[in-house]
Amino acid sequence: MPADVGLGIVVGGRGRGSNMAAIIRACQEGVVNAEVRAVVAPKADIPAVERAHELGVPVRIVSGNDAHGLVAALADVDWVCLAGYLRLLPAEVLANHVGRVINIHPALLPKFGGQGMYGHHVHEAVIAAGEPVSGCTVHYVTEAYDEGATILQKTTAVLPDDTAESLAKRVLALEHTAYVEALVKLIDG
Ligand code: GRF
Repeated sequence: MPADVGLGIVVGGRGRGSNMAAIIRACQEGVVNAEVRAVVAPKADIPAVERAHELGVPVRIVSGNDAHGLVAALADVDWVCLAGYLRLLPAEVLANHVGRVINIHPALLPKFGGQGMYGHHVHEAVIAAGEPVSGCTVHYVTEAYDEGATILQKTTAVLPDDTAESLAKRVLALEHTAYVEALVKLIDG
């Protein structure tokens, strides 16, 4: 029987889709009591779209700045999960899903967030600042970059010989469990 709660996952143009896949699998395995009804991507020729097809989830191709298109693509979902969408989400989408749009960031917010803080930029900044600990943050999405309330964080030590790549790899593994745990917490209460 399909779950009552519907999720939409919005990915970005780089579209690797590893968080997306972790969420879809957790829903399909019944770990998260929800159904992923749509993956929304800006173009078809990205790995995330291929992976969504393999996992049997409908894909809707919508440009990341097409507010009406995004609203329509997410019309039948309860929760919206951003996973690699690097823009500010149009206000219309937030208004349609008040308090139900979440994102994951590969650092411990409020540090190392904001415009331009994505991918290797984040991990390079963490290492350059000499931070002993990094991690990831699942947070609510607002009209500003990375400023919504934190839902859950997971941490990992920054090792003396870490590069941005090695730190990114450890943080990404944490992201997958963090996103799933956050959804369990939000949906099951
Ligand atoms: C992740 O590092 C996430 O924190 C950030 O974008 C990246 C998406 O990676 N928001 P993936 O496409 O889920 O593998």
